[in-house]
Amino acid sequence: MAGAEPPSPMLGREQPARADVAGHPRLHVMTHPLAAILTTTLRDARTPVPAFGHCVQELARGLLWETLADVATAPVDVPGHSGVPVAGRIIAGDVALVVILRAGLGMLPPARELLPLAPVYQVGARRDEATLAARIYYTNLPCAYDDVARLLVLDPMLATGGSASAVVRLLRPAYRGPIAFLGILGAPLGARELLASDPDVDVYLAALDDHLDQRGFIVPGLGDAGDRLFGTE
Ligand code: PRP
Repeated sequence: MAGAEPPSPMLGREQPARADVAGHPRLHVMTHPLAAILTTTLRDARTPVPAFGHCVQELARGLLWETLADVATAPVDVPGHSGVPVAGRIIAGDVALVVILRAGLGMLPPARELLPLAPVYQVGARRDEATLAARIYYTNLPCAYDDVARLLVLDPMLATGGSASAVVRLLRPAYRGPIAFLGILGAPLGARELLASDPDVDVYLAALDDHLDQRGFIVPGLGDAGDRLFGTE
């Protein structure tokens, strides 16, 4: 019973309201009607595992489009259908992906489709259920990010922001460039904490929810994204 549990130390502080963070210049929340439709399906406790995974992928694809809206491109010629070269564009700098295990895996398929050459690094992070502190249990990160112009961090949930902030700290100082965090749902507290943790992080969300409950779950939220993606409890 969430309401009967004592508040986590992490939630002892007053939580910001949605309006306190909504206008932050580095916070980008999707306004497309499809984002509201797809997040409704995710919030619906009856949605089965395959449909849940499909919605996460569709939203991740939309977030990727928004995140890459200002990506630098360079000219390239490709052979056209009539044998005449056609002028086109490619991404100018390398993009790398960082997946936060395990729920971030649900967002990976569209990222690999859109960015097939992007290296995929992983960080395993798990919250302590009592303190809500993030514990990093696995890292697969490079020593240097020589040609990487942009890092995209994937995790559907931004609750206290502890996991995402810990991952950003791991990426610094080896990587000094811009980082985009792509999440499906975020709480105001998590958005505020992540944005404050690093001046060169942008946060992209499909929806900014209301608050965290005493267990640190996003409200209204969708439950445990990892469990719903992988059919575990
Ligand atoms: C969830 C979620 C995020 C984190 C968000 O993972 O996928 O990684 O919690 O919470 P925070 O912002 O308060 O840190 P969880 O710890 O449940 O691990 P899992 O993905 O392995 O289920």
